[in-house]
Amino acid sequence: MDRSTRMPGAADGTAGTALVTGASSGMGAATARRLAARGHDLVLVARREDRLKALAGEVSAEHGVAALAVPLDLERTDELSDALTGVLAALPGPLTAAVLAAGHGRGHGPVREADPGPWESQLRVNLLAPMLLVRALLPALDAAGGDLVVIGSLFGTRPSPGYAPYAATKYGLAGFVRSLAEEERPAPGCRICLISPGATNTEFASVLAGARDPRVHDVADWPYHPLLAEDVAAGVEWVLSRPAHARVTELTVDPLDARY
Ligand SMILES: NC(=O)c1ccc[n+]([C@@H]2O[C@H](COP(=O)([O-])OP(=O)(O)OC[C@H]3O[C@@H](n4cnc5c(N)ncnc54)[C@H](OP(=O)(O)O)[C@@H]3O)[C@@H](O)[C@H]2O)c1
Repeated sequence: MDRSTRMPGAADGTAGTALVTGASSGMGAATARRLAARGHDLVLVARREDRLKALAGEVSAEHGVAALAVPLDLERTDELSDALTGVLAALPGPLTAAVLAAGHGRGHGPVREADPGPWESQLRVNLLAPMLLVRALLPALDAAGGDLVVIGSLFGTRPSPGYAPYAATKYGLAGFVRSLAEEERPAPGCRICLISPGATNTEFASVLAGARDPRVHDVADWPYHPLLAEDVAAGVEWVLSRPAHARVTELTVDPLDARY
C-alpha cells in the first residue's frame, strides 16, 4: 500500500477497525474510547470479558461503531495463533490500527528478594505475546496502510532498580519494535510506533502489588503526580492522526514532576 497517495484510514473513507489489547482497563480502555470517538470499529482484547462487553456496549451506544469483545489470556502464547486466526476472520472491516497495551509488572522488587514466580508470565504477556501478535497482524495492517502502536515503558529505556524483570520485558519489547521498524523502513507497509509512558494512574500498580484494590497503591501517597490513562490515549490518537506522509516512530510521555 502506497501511503503517499491517501490520508490515514480505510480505502472506503471510513476509519476502519482498531484492535486494542489490554482494553479492559487503563490505557487500553482509554485508547479504545478515543478511537471509537474517531469512528473506528473495535476489537477489544483482554481476559475480563465482562469489562470488554461493557465497554463494547458503551462505545457502540455512544458512537455507533461495531465493537467485538474477544476474551483472551495472552499468557497462553501457545494458543495465540489459533485464536488470532479466528479474530482476523471476524474483523468488521480493514485493520487500520492495532494498539498493543496489555501488560503487567507482577514479580517486582530487588532481584535478590523478588518472587520469580510471575517472571515467566511477564515475559509471555509483555514480550512474547506482542511479538507474536505483531507478526500475525502485520499483513492485515499492511493491506490497510494502517498503524501499529506498541505500549512499552519508560522502564524499557533506562535502568529501573526494583523492577528489573519488568524492565527486561520492556527493554526487549523496545528492541523488537525498533528493529522491526528498521527492517520495514525501506518499504513500510504500515506505520510503527513505540510509546514509552512513565508512571500512570491505572490498575497497573495494584495488580503489581498482588491485588486489584486501588487503595493498595493510593496515588495520593505518590511523591509526584502520575499521568492519567487518558494522557497516553491522547498520545495514541495523535500518532494515528498524523498525515499519511508523516510517521511518529517513538513517543515518550512522563509525569512532569516524576521522581523514580
Ligand atoms: N501504569 C503505568 O505506570 C505504566 C507505565 C508505563 C507502561 N505501562 C504499560 O502500559 C500498558 C497498559 O498498562 P495500564 O497502566 O493501563 O495497566 P492496567 O490498567 O493494569 O491494564 C493492563 C491491561 O492488560 C491486560 N492484561 C494483563 N494480563 C493479561 C493477560 N494475561 N492476558 C490478556 N490481557 C492481560 C489487563 O486485562 P485483564 O486483566 O482483563 O486481562 C488490562 O486490560 C502495560 O503494557 C504496562 O506495562 C504502564
